[in-house]
Amino acid sequence: MIPPINRRRFLRLGLGAFASLGTVLGSRSILQKHKLSALDNPSRDFAITEWSPLRELAANKDIIFGASARFDQVMSDKQFAVLLAQECRLLVPEWELKWSAGDHHLRPSPGEFDFAAADAMLSFAQTHHLLFRGHALIWHESLPKWFQKVVNHQNAAKVMKHHIETVMGHYRGRMHSWDVVNEAIEYDPLASQRADGLRQTPWFEFLGPDYIDFAFRIAAKADPDALLVYNDFGLDYNTAMDKAKRRAVLGLLKRLKAKGTPVHALGIQAHLRGDSLDFDPQSLRQFLKEVAALDLKILITEMDVNDSKLPADIQKRDRIVAGVYEDYLSVVLDEPAVIAVITWGLSDRYTYLSEFFPRADHQPVRPLPLDTNLQPKLAWNALARAFQKAQKR
Ligand code: XIL
Repeated sequence: MIPPINRRRFLRLGLGAFASLGTVLGSRSILQKHKLSALDNPSRDFAITEWSPLRELAANKDIIFGASARFDQVMSDKQFAVLLAQECRLLVPEWELKWSAGDHHLRPSPGEFDFAAADAMLSFAQTHHLLFRGHALIWHESLPKWFQKVVNHQNAAKVMKHHIETVMGHYRGRMHSWDVVNEAIEYDPLASQRADGLRQTPWFEFLGPDYIDFAFRIAAKADPDALLVYNDFGLDYNTAMDKAKRRAVLGLLKRLKAKGTPVHALGIQAHLRGDSLDFDPQSLRQFLKEVAALDLKILITEMDVNDSKLPADIQKRDRIVAGVYEDYLSVVLDEPAVIAVITWGLSDRYTYLSEFFPRADHQPVRPLPLDTNLQPKLAWNALARAFQKAQKR
């Protein structure tokens, strides 16, 4: 119970707080409006001169365009499978070549390998003249439940070698590329206890920092024809975190190349954000130059544009998302070492962002080139324009 004398004071304080909250909220909505005007340029129409499948527009410049997909999407959604074959030159299983992901278990037990789903996807790829890409041999995520109970300091090297040799051996000679090691650098290298920013994953704990070199050397012997890729995310923006991540990844690649590790390419996942104001073409371009100077190829491996923080208006949202695709690709495709652009999913009908980054307004997310009805969106136009503008490799 508040004594009477203070009630007036409490009321004054309350009214004052309410008023300042109103100011804050008011200025926040002004800030949001300002941010949106910085993000959205209504005059951008993303007009295109040629309606050809993205795989052809990219191939005209010796660039590979592809997408990830899941077994059930390819095998059960005929409409989608047709578009995948029409638009893509490369297919990468979203789940089926991970140790265990979703309802697919490549490694059901320590002694078992179940290649059935990935084999069916490879067969689809071969039937439709798509290249096939493997993701991901050594990662700290998508590990089966038995991993933690079974793998230890004593057997980790043997387990890693057996996995890589068996899986790569099964697909030997039929793979465009493999993500040999995925996401070995800390999410936020600035918060890392290590100067090199390496994540202290189970593989790191059991085998030390050389686990990465070890994995690539096994992979090079297991399939000499496959392009061997180090894959990571958070390399795109001019934030302190992304700049630190670029430094750490570059440092890792330099160390690997210096010791003769058979790493052939950097995979930049490019999970982009529609609401970011931190994109700086020059710093990204410089990073690509420094990677290419290590005699490495570069693949954009998991591109999508997260629109969860963008306004509900679909026209605005699609225009902003397309602008991010076009602005980003005009920088990365300026680097001749960039040989592939792969989106993480092809259609909004199937995107992991629906689950991982749903919109607060519960509107369906729209991060990919095709909409849920498999129709091209402005993002499709943006990819087409970027391939048409790119120099031939
Ligand atoms: C994601 C899949 O899309 C999800 O379905 C799964 O639940 C988690 O993994 N970086 C990667 C991909 O390298 O393997 C991740 O894929 C997305 C982030």
